Amino acid sequence: MRILVTGGAGYIGSHTCVALIDAGHSVIVADNLCNSRVEVLDRMKEITGKDIPFYHIDVTDYVAVERVFVEHEMDGVIHFAGLKAVGESVEKPLFYYYNNLVSTMILAKACLHYGVNRFVFSSSATVYGDNEVPFVETMKLKPRMNPYGESKAMSEQILSDIARANPSFSVSLLRYFNPVGAHESGLIGEAPNGIPNNLMPYVTQVAAGKREKLRIFGDDYPTIDGTGVRDYIHVMDLAEGHVAALENLLEGVHIYNLGTGRGTSVLELVKAFEEANGVEIPFEVVERRAGDIAEFYADASKAEQELGWKAKRDLVAMCRDAWRFESSAGTLALSGTLGTVNVSHS
Ligand code: NAD
Ligand code: UFG
Repeated sequence: MRILVTGGAGYIGSHTCVALIDAGHSVIVADNLCNSRVEVLDRMKEITGKDIPFYHIDVTDYVAVERVFVEHEMDGVIHFAGLKAVGESVEKPLFYYYNNLVSTMILAKACLHYGVNRFVFSSSATVYGDNEVPFVETMKLKPRMNPYGESKAMSEQILSDIARANPSFSVSLLRYFNPVGAHESGLIGEAPNGIPNNLMPYVTQVAAGKREKLRIFGDDYPTIDGTGVRDYIHVMDLAEGHVAALENLLEGVHIYNLGTGRGTSVLELVKAFEEANGVEIPFEVVERRAGDIAEFYADASKAEQELGWKAKRDLVAMCRDAWRFESSAGTLALSGTLGTVNVSHS
């Protein structure tokens, strides 16, 4: 299949492009580089040996998106392009709703117009809110009260309604748990700008000496050791989950959790990282972070039964690959503040 990957220069999108190419598909990337770098495209070429057509466009711009559909015959779209910082979404709700909802509607509109019938959407476990664990797809959603989570729940609703009204349009809504790690080459990975919000990139930056110590947000939760528990999933497993979702997409709307089904605490992750990489991660325990919940992990059985997909990489591989990316010389070129990039338009 030939797949348009929006946000394909980003963290999960770039790994998914590699997994798609590995599985024999071809990809076209559309990204405005608001949270990624054009060099990632070169890295993807280095890994796969394939040229990837790249459109430096904003997918909230229908005219720009339409050009991609006119210039390429496509079998499907995977829509990763979105803004994802929860705290920033509270400060800039209009920016988040506009970007995340309009992009989804523009892409759906172009798909209907050009007869592209497969649509895979990046949703998030955040839509479950503070539910009972494990989170299962049939649960009533309780999006956390922030515009980011709401934008994911609303996008799910919009796509579901469109699919119901257009029976040939098939939608897969993928609810990611906590993606970590990097491609085993060390060439692509997670390179956040500024101070990382998420645990694993913060840990790798402490290991690299870029940050003095990890701050653990609370050790008084009702969990195994008092620290927060999450379902960390290797980003290449997540990427392969997209390939499975696309290849097994049936008519209608289908929702899948992409997680491992296992919970890991902050302290367990820190210990696993230290052991896997032979480094020390100094930390201090500080106040709980506002909005955090104690524990969540997936019931991942539906994806296994219906898609034949299961996460196979363990916590050691996640820690080792995250550190390989952070510590490899190549990462340096990707990290740091985004400057102006010169992009040759496809
Ligand atoms: P990322 O920021 O690395 O990638 C997103 C990409 O989309 C970036 O390259 C950015 O430049 C691009 N983009 C954003 N808005 C755009 C627009 N209007 N037009 C064109 N390009 C645009 O983030 P990621 O971690 O790879 O996340 C990908 C998707 O998965 C997002 O939708 C995110 O909300 C979702 N998600 C991520 C996580 C996570 O923990 N990383 C968890 C659940 C869901
Ligand atoms: N944590 C720390 N210190 C840090 C960062 C995180 O102790 O510096 C803790 C958190 O309190 C939490 C755990 O590590 O217990 C994981 O936190 P992350 O920020 O890495 O991940 P979250 O589960 O809070 O959220 C992430 C994304 C959300 C997404 C969610 C589910 O940021 O956007 O996973 O996919 F919705």
